[in-house]
Amino acid sequence: MTKKLAATSENLQAVVALLQQGEVVALPTETVYGLAGNSANPAAVVRIFEAKERPSFDPLIVHLASKYRTSNGVSLKSLAEATGLIDFNKIPIQLIGPIEALLTKFWPGPLTVVLPKTDRVLDLVTSGLPSVALRMPAHPLMQSVLQASGMFLSAPSANRFGSISPTSAEAVLAELHGRIPAVLDGGNCEHGLESTILGIMNPTTLTILRPGSLTQEEIQTTTGPRCKIEGPAETIASIPPQAAGQIDSHYAPRKGMLLLPESMKPAHLPLLEKHFADAKPFGFLLFQKPDPDLNKFLHHGGHSIFLLSTNSNLREAAQNFYQTLRSMDASRCRTLVAEPPPTQEGLGLALMDRLKRAAKKKGPKFP
Ligand code: TXA
Ligand code: MG
Repeated sequence: MTKKLAATSENLQAVVALLQQGEVVALPTETVYGLAGNSANPAAVVRIFEAKERPSFDPLIVHLASKYRTSNGVSLKSLAEATGLIDFNKIPIQLIGPIEALLTKFWPGPLTVVLPKTDRVLDLVTSGLPSVALRMPAHPLMQSVLQASGMFLSAPSANRFGSISPTSAEAVLAELHGRIPAVLDGGNCEHGLESTILGIMNPTTLTILRPGSLTQEEIQTTTGPRCKIEGPAETIASIPPQAAGQIDSHYAPRKGMLLLPESMKPAHLPLLEKHFADAKPFGFLLFQKPDPDLNKFLHHGGHSIFLLSTNSNLREAAQNFYQTLRSMDASRCRTLVAEPPPTQEGLGLALMDRLKRAAKKKGPKFP
């Protein structure tokens, strides 16, 4: 039995008590729900991997209380001293300013940075890597638990490995019911996609290891031209395979999913119906309301339409993304057919990344 706990002060205390006993609890963050455990307790960390059936080579993000940020922002030297988690001397000097500017602007928030670690971080947490991923989440409930427990919390997304990330307490239950003692209900997540993960590529370059809720444009504007920000496409081949949700098939629905090469058009339908005749009806995942022609076409074939947004609003699409994949999985459609986002700029980059991985597993290929 997994308890769904309302956000009361007694329940917050109960959550902290569970964490102190070395248990794991699902907690809301502003991106997706995380499955949290005490980073310093090997038994708790092992429980996280077990509950998710996550392979031990996939490292965890360590979450920090907002007390590690002062009113002046974030200083890496002070953060290293206060937490004992970061090896400050191994951070390339030219990157200290840009990283501090980013953390000052976006912490607490959906930004994760991968920094050289000290021996105090368990190898279990980082899967033996010499670096640790750190994030200061913004969700008030997550912050209350971090503050009250005094712990650093390791927390991957609270889903079974490779499956759809949860953006509500109900979605956590659908993934992990019976495997964890409790989920703290914080309603729907504000952003709906995971944090953006930044790593150090070389002494002058930061690289986006995983695109996410914070856009490359916002990051580059904050660091300015003094620091090069490499996008995920440019670096993906050179990063170790364990890094950053880069396993090919990930965030995936149970049903096969096909990613169209362009926005859905009436001309696609006959082609789809012919080639995937034994995989009908289709569920169409669209970024905007189809025009009347297309709408008629799709309904005529007995297919269903799932809208991420009515008008290509990418913030809205990101918020709805994982929940919509869940609804499609639960619906009567047999194959998911997704159109790409209207742009790959801004949140379009992270949405396209998730769609590609969701479509990787067993979906039919577009003829
Ligand atoms: O928004 C988020 O980041 C959510 C919430 C719960 O905070 N967490 C999340 O965790 O998405 P997870 O474990 O599902 O994804 C974290 C990714 C993993 O794919 C892992 O490979 C990468 O972060 N990662 C962790 N430590 C790393 C490291 N030292 N170097 C490179 N990548 C790392
Ligand atoms: Mg995940």
